[in-house]
Amino acid sequence: MSIKNTAENYGSIAKWLHWITAALFLVAYVSVYYSHWFLEPRTPASFNAFQIHLSVGASVGVIVILRIIWRLSNPTPRDEPGSRLAHFAAHLGHYALYAVMIIMPVTGYLGTGGNINYFFMFELPKFEDTWLFELLVNNWLGMSFSEFEKPIDFIHKDVMGAWIVWLLIVGHVVAALYHHHVKKDRTLYKMTSGK
Ligand code: HEM
Ligand code: HEM
Repeated sequence: MSIKNTAENYGSIAKWLHWITAALFLVAYVSVYYSHWFLEPRTPASFNAFQIHLSVGASVGVIVILRIIWRLSNPTPRDEPGSRLAHFAAHLGHYALYAVMIIMPVTGYLGTGGNINYFFMFELPKFEDTWLFELLVNNWLGMSFSEFEKPIDFIHKDVMGAWIVWLLIVGHVVAALYHHHVKKDRTLYKMTSGK
């Protein structure tokens, strides 16, 4: 398997980055909803689940940077036969997923009032303690953290997390399965075995 993408297939690096991201999104959702639905608030167990959410989310923020660099320095495999509208929708969907991979870690980080204990190994400072917060939010916008976090949290949780993100991912997965089982083309193979 080639490391770089070819005209037919995604290469091994693009595949790893893609599937690691998919796993991280799954863990981000499971950790936050497991904590909401099954754990008592403000217990060590809910704190740990929350820290997993923050660590996994922060990892997405790093991986998306690598992914964008890799995507720009590689050819994208050729589209499978289909209408121009279908190709346009697929590309739009991929760009929207990139937007989600950026917006979720950024809004998550900006709106969190506690440090990230990254996979229980080391601490990353919360946004409120950084010079950027002081410069942009305190001095420039003239806002306190609690004023600033409300709209940011609303975007992260109520607009994106509760709706847009999972709808986009479900749409993406349904499209992949439709290509595989109904159209019977190579779309899913391009991102898996490459056969
Ligand atoms: C892949 C990235 C991420 C995804 C998909 C994601 C998704 C979500 C979802 C679905 C919720 C729950 C929404 C609800 O209550 O209805 C949530 C809550 C939250 N997220 Fe994220 N998130 C991500 C990254 C992050 C990051 C990087 C941070 C902080 C560094 C963060 C901080 C939070 C906080 C503070 C909450 C509120 C938790 C609570 O109410 O108990 N998230 N996120
Ligand atoms: C079980 C879950 C998933 C399946 C089965 C899946 C399947 C696929 C397939 C088959 C492709 C190739 C499509 C093509 O080239 O036309 C692809 C590409 C892509 N997928 Fe997924 N995917 C999944 C989860 C995700 C998640 C969670 C994200 C991001 C939040 C994501 C983001 C992307 C992006 C951005 C591309 C375009 C290629 C690239 O630039 O890396 N996928 N996916």
